[in-house]
Amino acid sequence: MMMSGVLTKSVAGNICRRGLATAGAAPRLKTFKVYRWNPDKPAEKPRLQSYQVDLDDCGPMVLDALLKIKDQQDSTLTLRRSCREGICGSCAMNIGGRNTLACLCKIDQDHTKDLKIYPLPHMYIVKDLVPDLTNFYQQYKSIQPYLQRSTFPADGKEVLQSVEDRKKLDGLYECILCACCSTSCPSYWWNQEQYLGPAVLMQAYRWLIDSRDEASAVRKSMLQNSMSLYRCHTIMNCTRTCPKGLNPGYAIAEIKKAMATD
Ligand code: SF4
Ligand code: SF4
Ligand code: FES
Repeated sequence: MMMSGVLTKSVAGNICRRGLATAGAAPRLKTFKVYRWNPDKPAEKPRLQSYQVDLDDCGPMVLDALLKIKDQQDSTLTLRRSCREGICGSCAMNIGGRNTLACLCKIDQDHTKDLKIYPLPHMYIVKDLVPDLTNFYQQYKSIQPYLQRSTFPADGKEVLQSVEDRKKLDGLYECILCACCSTSCPSYWWNQEQYLGPAVLMQAYRWLIDSRDEASAVRKSMLQNSMSLYRCHTIMNCTRTCPKGLNPGYAIAEIKKAMATD
């Protein structure tokens, strides 16, 4: 008699890594066309390299496929990733024409369709799928993304915030700074040395409306020029692409409103 939860040898023998469903079936090979560029071979132009992955022997996300390729086919393929659950923001790339996080992007199970994967667009590339985010992080630093106060509670304890004021930060604090939005923004493509872009502007707004912060006048004055903020023309690519479902386009509009009513 077979006890519940215990497999007989013959049943267990049928279970391989590819799973029961595919035993004997032709492998479902999907082609991933991945952008490659090697800084050590600057004379060679960037190219797309094709890799085939058996979908029945791979996790469900695009990051699973990329890591499988790197582990089993080509260790030179270079990409960033850390958390594999949409928290660190490091696996941002352009997948099937859209900026998103590879770890949150499901593989289209139609194995007859190729999938093209590029780095985030209009960025300098360090190697393969790794963009240079130096300017992006410098811009983030420039908005002074931390609480600033010159007065403190008499009891020396925390600076309290009402439930209503805390709610104003929802939809803003969740940003993981993946840069998917900024690198989907045409204004950012053409002016990224001076235009802060949607990700950084949304964080500027996050600090601007924090009831505990006392630096709003300075924060606004830093944005009062023709380039930092006003290059946004409300095209809304940013909001459409955000893999966390946030709305940087709305945050930018709210900053403009706050600046206009000052
Ligand atoms: S709404 Fe503004 S920030 Fe967003 S994509 Fe359009 S121009 Fe860029
Ligand atoms: S707003 Fe969204 S797309 Fe933009 S950096 Fe934050 S999480 Fe990424
Ligand atoms: S690996 Fe962290 S967001 Fe994808």
